[in-house]
Amino acid sequence: MRHFKFFVTATLSGYKQLILLILRLIVTLTCSTAVMAQTTADFPRDGVFVQQTGEHIYRVTCQGCHMPQGQGAVGAGKYPALANNPRLANPVYPAYVVVNGSHAMPPVGQMLTNEQVVEVVQFVRSNWGNHFLTPLSPAEVQALRISSH
Ligand code: HEC
Repeated sequence: MRHFKFFVTATLSGYKQLILLILRLIVTLTCSTAVMAQTTADFPRDGVFVQQTGEHIYRVTCQGCHMPQGQGAVGAGKYPALANNPRLANPVYPAYVVVNGSHAMPPVGQMLTNEQVVEVVQFVRSNWGNHFLTPLSPAEVQALRISSH
């Protein structure tokens, strides 16, 4: 009888532990799903980034190399500054680089719509000491896409 009692108590606490374990598992799973949802929101959907404003597109697709204030960086590679950059005066040049890449810069624009390229190019052309206001149209961006020729 004593043994039986011990068995029941042991089993009960075993159950309790199991339930706790399951609860913990559920919490962990729910939390990690939430975290995953947050991070995957930044990734491209069907090969196209989902961000729409120039600043948001910049933060997700350019800032990793060109830095938060467009200051560029020198380290494992050389990432030119976009801040105070007179080469951005003509919108066609940055749009071309974004769409087709250049040396160590990948053609990020392949994963952006023409409108998104316009937004991000105009964002970098009007921030951090750049005040270039010449307009850029989605049709001009389309014309720069080499594969579309
Ligand atoms: C993987 C890193 C990387 C990413 C991401 C990246 N760039 Fe670049 N970018 C570079 C490098 C490296 C160069 C220099 C290329 C060269 O030497 O021809 C460059 C050059 C440029 C230039 C030309 C600057 C000049 O002075 O000639 C512009 C404009 C530019 N990037 C804009 C952007 C924008 C806008 C985005 C986001 C849509 C972006 N880049 C994303 C690495 C990157």
